[in-house]
Amino acid sequence: MLYIGIDLGTSAVKLLLMDSEGKILNIVSKEYPLYFPNPGWSEQKPEDWYEQTMAGLKELLADADKSQVAGISFGGQMHGLVILDKEDNVIRPALLWNDGRTYEECDYLNNVIGKEKLSEYTANISFTGFTAPKILWVKNKEPENFAKIEKIMLPKDYIAYKLTGVHCTDVSDASGMLLFDVKNRCWSQEMCDICGVKPSQLAKCYESYEAVGTVLPAIAKELEIPENVVVAAGAGDNAAAAVGTGTVGDNMCNISLGTSGTIFISSYNFGVDKFNALHSFAHADGHYHLMGCMLSAASCNKWWMDEIIGTKDYAAEQKNIDKLGENHVYFLPYLMGERSPHNNPNARGTFIGMTMDTTREDMTQAVLEGVAFALRDSLEVAKSLGINLERTKICGGGAKSPLWKKMIANVLNLKVDVIESEEGPALGGAMLAAVACGEYASVEEIAAKMVKVVDTVEPEAELVAKYEERYAQFKEIYPACKPLYDIITK
Ligand code: XUL
Repeated sequence: MLYIGIDLGTSAVKLLLMDSEGKILNIVSKEYPLYFPNPGWSEQKPEDWYEQTMAGLKELLADADKSQVAGISFGGQMHGLVILDKEDNVIRPALLWNDGRTYEECDYLNNVIGKEKLSEYTANISFTGFTAPKILWVKNKEPENFAKIEKIMLPKDYIAYKLTGVHCTDVSDASGMLLFDVKNRCWSQEMCDICGVKPSQLAKCYESYEAVGTVLPAIAKELEIPENVVVAAGAGDNAAAAVGTGTVGDNMCNISLGTSGTIFISSYNFGVDKFNALHSFAHADGHYHLMGCMLSAASCNKWWMDEIIGTKDYAAEQKNIDKLGENHVYFLPYLMGERSPHNNPNARGTFIGMTMDTTREDMTQAVLEGVAFALRDSLEVAKSLGINLERTKICGGGAKSPLWKKMIANVLNLKVDVIESEEGPALGGAMLAAVACGEYASVEEIAAKMVKVVDTVEPEAELVAKYEERYAQFKEIYPACKPLYDIITK
């Protein structure tokens, strides 16, 4: 049988075709635009996602035995707000996970409703990227659009809706809406009341590995696949990436170096940290996870390479960087503000420490190290909860860089296990489809069978010690800059 994983990302949709044994037969990627209509705003058109997904599916299956396709599922960029009217038209472009416009609504939720209540209802507090403050923003700033809302959905769920006609979501992605009672895996009536959301506007919520339906006959015809192809609920991209890297079960870790950067820790038990600095979400394996999310990770390097240095040859820029742990330049990677652990939409990218002998390599190194240090900030919160990790998996575009993996291993003092495929979310999506079709009994079973570690980057004691000193300095920079960010963003 064949399974399709659809990773609906921020820069592109990636589609992956896998057989029952986990062999990857084809991967296709289709880009779409990202719009920044105002500083700190970030939007995409759901229609673009759908168009490119369908074009990608056709390309993916061009040389495949289409009669063998059994299941489709997803990993999707999280938190985005998609709203449909009663004719199923998209009311306005989607507000994305890295959109920072909702600071007033977050202030209302965190300080008027209060963080304690939010944490009690949802296990989380409000961050500008989360969905509930976006709904409040539409209610406050675009009341005519708010009045038209018939259905509220997350990005990947829009694609599932177009493919099946079923208004569905899954527990991992729903967790990031701030409308979901994570502990009990159901919608929070209190949060719906606070945000003016009617239960009828929300999707039916499934476990990630559950079937939500089959493809609509018109879709089956267009793609030339059988009408009984199962569509499974899928997961938010981080939970799907965790499935794809085998980060399931208890106390496993995955780091994703994509547009965003995340550190994802799976757990059998539900848990929340005291300051809600880490997100506490339901996992796609039926359990829970904690996650720190930085808004700009590989995108910092992309910005530095493409926009500032003006090159596409990232490897060439990295090849002469050899003085690890000795850089006197620091970079705070807050190009879109920051989520974990600072929760500050006004934070900005910041270089500090340059001298007349600073080189281009030093600056490039600082960008890569800044991302590693910022991930360490979230790891420190996890440690403060008594979580002890020895190793992590890694995925995402940034994981292609051997230098960056070495930095991560040494800055975080973790063994970094590299797996056969970096295609975390797309592979995880295909694996969830295989479970939904009954090919495997559970997410843990398929992960144990399919995910293979092919290399491990070990931390080196001397380098770990050097980076420990550098991290101690890095940690001091954000608090010193924080008041300045408020001034310069006024
Ligand atoms: C997670 C988050 C990002 C997006 C990226 O909370 O906002 O990782 O899911 O697609």
